[in-house]
Amino acid sequence: MVDTRTQYHKIKAEVDKAVIDVMESTAFINGKPVQDFAKNLSVYTGAKHTITCANGTDALQIAMMALGLQPGDEVITPSFTYIATTEVIALLKLTPVFAEVDVKTFCIDPVSLEKAITSKTKAIVPVHLYGHAAPMEEIMAIANKYNLYVIEDNAQAIGCDYSFSDGTKSKTGTIGHIGTTSFYPSKNLGAFGDGGAIFTNDDSLAGKMKKIANHGQSKKYYHDIVGCNSRLDTIQAAILDIKLKHLDEYITARRKAADYYDKIFSGQPKIKTPYRAPYSNHAFHQYTIILDGADRDGLNKFLADNNIPSMIYYPVPGHKQKMFEQFGSASQEMPVTDWLTSRVISLPIHTELDEEQLNFITLKVLEYINK
Ligand SMILES: Cc1ncc(COP(=O)(O)O)c(C=O)c1O
Repeated sequence: MVDTRTQYHKIKAEVDKAVIDVMESTAFINGKPVQDFAKNLSVYTGAKHTITCANGTDALQIAMMALGLQPGDEVITPSFTYIATTEVIALLKLTPVFAEVDVKTFCIDPVSLEKAITSKTKAIVPVHLYGHAAPMEEIMAIANKYNLYVIEDNAQAIGCDYSFSDGTKSKTGTIGHIGTTSFYPSKNLGAFGDGGAIFTNDDSLAGKMKKIANHGQSKKYYHDIVGCNSRLDTIQAAILDIKLKHLDEYITARRKAADYYDKIFSGQPKIKTPYRAPYSNHAFHQYTIILDGADRDGLNKFLADNNIPSMIYYPVPGHKQKMFEQFGSASQEMPVTDWLTSRVISLPIHTELDEEQLNFITLKVLEYINK
């Protein structure tokens, strides 16, 4: 689905030097590149505070720990997302409440979200799925109306711009009270291992999250609150700092591949190409089509037989996952989520796709669906 080797080879000299520099410095934990990267990421996103951590799942956990939520408090999240978003809610003994997604954006549907609010609701976790921004203006309005926290799961959309109706713009991940992201290698900004970050403009939340990520420590060996150990390795920070300079160019390459797919698939009645809402520019972490009237799993297998990777993100929605049986969500009516779950398929999208590869992929997709 991605070609991180070719991408690495284009910046190899700079990356190799940065890694060797860290090894020579032996500052493997919290070395200068970690602070430099956090600073540069703040400049890029416009977030006042960036706290790096070990991965995107920890980022969500630390964010939720900082909000002072109590066991049984409800957190609303889309059912159609990666498990990390919802798993941490249950891990912290909070109650995940699943909302529907919009069939066009694949992101949380504000109508379903508002309906899910109860007196126990404390927070909302919208997910910018596949690199498409959730409707943050509507979500923030709902959050303000009911006095709820918003944590944006921006693991799949770093670099995405959001335009508000008053003409102002923000990067996704900096609109809610807290934003989180992942540097999993296949992400738009991918490390050579695990990594994550948390964004906020709130000084007090930033201080608390910094502490939580470091054993609740205020100064060495003085621990004020219960935290965890979640650090971005210096080597990963050094690599990410180099890749950050290329992030916009990486996203442009992804958009170019998406444009190619869109053009070839336009007018194909069995393929619904990804919607691009006027309020944001799609970061195309994934290029996910909806098949209607064609066998999705059959296409998945046909592509694999032709050495073309494709993925089903995600075959089982959150409300039907066994781990959430205790919440009784499996019986919840989620027609849009269920419909999407059986019809979506993601095609290869990355920074190194060339026209020959795109031509081969689209040819094979069309051969299967029109056979
Ligand atoms: C939407 C979403 N949230 C959270 C995560 C968790 O990130 P990580 O794998 O870095 O823990 C991911 C990454 O796979 C993701 O796609």
